[in-house]
Amino acid sequence: MRIDVVSIFPEYLAPLELSLIGKARQDGLLDLRVHDLRDFTTDRHRTVDDTPYGGGAGMVMKPEPWAQALTAVAAEGSGDAAGAGDSGDARKPVLIVPSPAGERFTQATAHQLAEEDQLVFACGRYEGIDERVLEWAADHFTVRPMSLGDYVLNGGEVAVLAMVEAIGRLLPGVVGNPESLVEESHSDGLLEYPVYTKPSSWRDRDVPAVLLSGNHGKIAQWRRHEQYRRTAERRPDLLAGFDAGTLPRADRTAF
Ligand code: ADE
Repeated sequence: MRIDVVSIFPEYLAPLELSLIGKARQDGLLDLRVHDLRDFTTDRHRTVDDTPYGGGAGMVMKPEPWAQALTAVAAEGSGDAAGAGDSGDARKPVLIVPSPAGERFTQATAHQLAEEDQLVFACGRYEGIDERVLEWAADHFTVRPMSLGDYVLNGGEVAVLAMVEAIGRLLPGVVGNPESLVEESHSDGLLEYPVYTKPSSWRDRDVPAVLLSGNHGKIAQWRRHEQYRRTAERRPDLLAGFDAGTLPRADRTAF
């Protein structure tokens, strides 16, 4: 997979050189490139923003640097560095625009996006990007404004760190043991069960006895129950669309 990130703070994306994602890049599993939006300006001051039409607080990102940057990264991604247009049969890259006004980014979104050939992240700052950029981009990209949650960040960079990590770890070969992707939170609609390690007794707190029993059927049942209990307590909203048939009998009756 190829990922391009366009930002006025390319240094913000440095953590993507670390840990599993950094290793995936080194191993050639992920071709991730970060671009400075200011490299696509033409004036002496490398201006990327201007005042909003209609008035109001803050500044808005100018459209032309974005069009230049996005055209360049799409051409690079399709192997068409001269920007002469694509060959016709290639899939459009997906343009993800992090924004609190976007659709909610979920584990299902991460799985969907992990199947794409090229993702381009456009990090807005200030009050956002001139809306016409998103309209224009729809001819060249599948455009998806995307929100991490119902709160406001200062810009898209932190959201990109989260989304790239969530997507990147789903790419084949990135997580050493793919089993660990199966039993984690949100993989089956519930939160994950609590986990424990040695010692079995610590500061007067004991690991639940069932986990020491060696009875794998009982352990699986206990874990499933704990998933349900935790989800009901912390995220009851997740239970609305959940198939109760996969739960231990006692938990099923609660539906
Ligand atoms: N940019 C600012 N706030 C955001 C959020 N909640 N999610 C994604 N991008 C953002």
